[in-house]
Amino acid sequence: MSSNDFDASNYLEFCNYLERQCGIVLGANKQYLVRSRLAPLVARFSLENLASLLTKFTRGMDRQLNAAVVDAMTTNETLWFRDTYPFEILKNKLLDNFTGKRVPIRIWSAACSSGQEPYSIAMTIHEYMQNKPGAFPGGIQIIGTDISSDMLERCKKAEYNNLSLGRGLSAERRTKFFEDVGNGDMRVIKPVRDMVSFKPINLLESYTSLGKFDLVFCRNVLIYFSAEIKTRILQQIAAGLQPGGILMVGASESMSGLSDKYTLHRCSPGMYYSKKQ
Ligand SMILES: C[S@@+](CC[C@H](N)C(=O)[O-])C[C@H]1O[C@@H](n2cnc3c(N)ncnc32)[C@H](O)[C@@H]1O
Repeated sequence: MSSNDFDASNYLEFCNYLERQCGIVLGANKQYLVRSRLAPLVARFSLENLASLLTKFTRGMDRQLNAAVVDAMTTNETLWFRDTYPFEILKNKLLDNFTGKRVPIRIWSAACSSGQEPYSIAMTIHEYMQNKPGAFPGGIQIIGTDISSDMLERCKKAEYNNLSLGRGLSAERRTKFFEDVGNGDMRVIKPVRDMVSFKPINLLESYTSLGKFDLVFCRNVLIYFSAEIKTRILQQIAAGLQPGGILMVGASESMSGLSDKYTLHRCSPGMYYSKKQ
């Protein structure tokens, strides 16, 4: 066996343990993905080969190694104002429902990756408030969470390179919402950064500690989970939504079997769900 290989039982055990840890279902033929993503960790954790790394992970004794494996196996693909319509619906329809509230409007970006989603929400609200100053006297609280500690570090830093800035941002928003940090990267400006805080949350565990939300964005993460885990997560999110609270899921994520919890609202384009009263 080469240093980059492992056998079928190693792989199966790894897949089962990974699903129990973070919900990600790898499927039967993703050995190449495991190899490409985890090979760099073998040297980092001074292990002999990939097989020993998988075995050590499934024993769950080394928290640092386990976090690094989960970090490496999660897909962090994201972009600014992803799919456009959720942010248009937010600005043109949903935010009107909250104007004048004397308590904070609470918004959760669950699985926020490197921060583009919660910061896009904050920028959308910023734009809304330029036309309606004083619309939210109770303030706005946006919380971004993710399982990946690497991603959360990036979120907090709020600095982005040219490549990521080129994905989904108009020139106008780039000028308005970013400042130069001197090394070629741009940082989200402080008034937008101050609207967002970040926390580690594994969607498989409890999130009652986050409190109740008016709006939840849980997008492009449910696709990695089994139907059973997805349903469990969406039920827990419903429990954390205020009555009538709003849920946005990804464009390709269905909500079958949850019609007792959520009502679908179609817009053109796009859609959103509200929690049944
Ligand atoms: C593809 S990104 C989606 C980012 C963003 N929501 C968007 O739509 O652009 C998926 C994110 O889900 C996170 N993730 C995967 N499993 C998770 C879990 N069990 N709990 C919390 N976050 C998880 C990953 O770390 C990754 O950052």
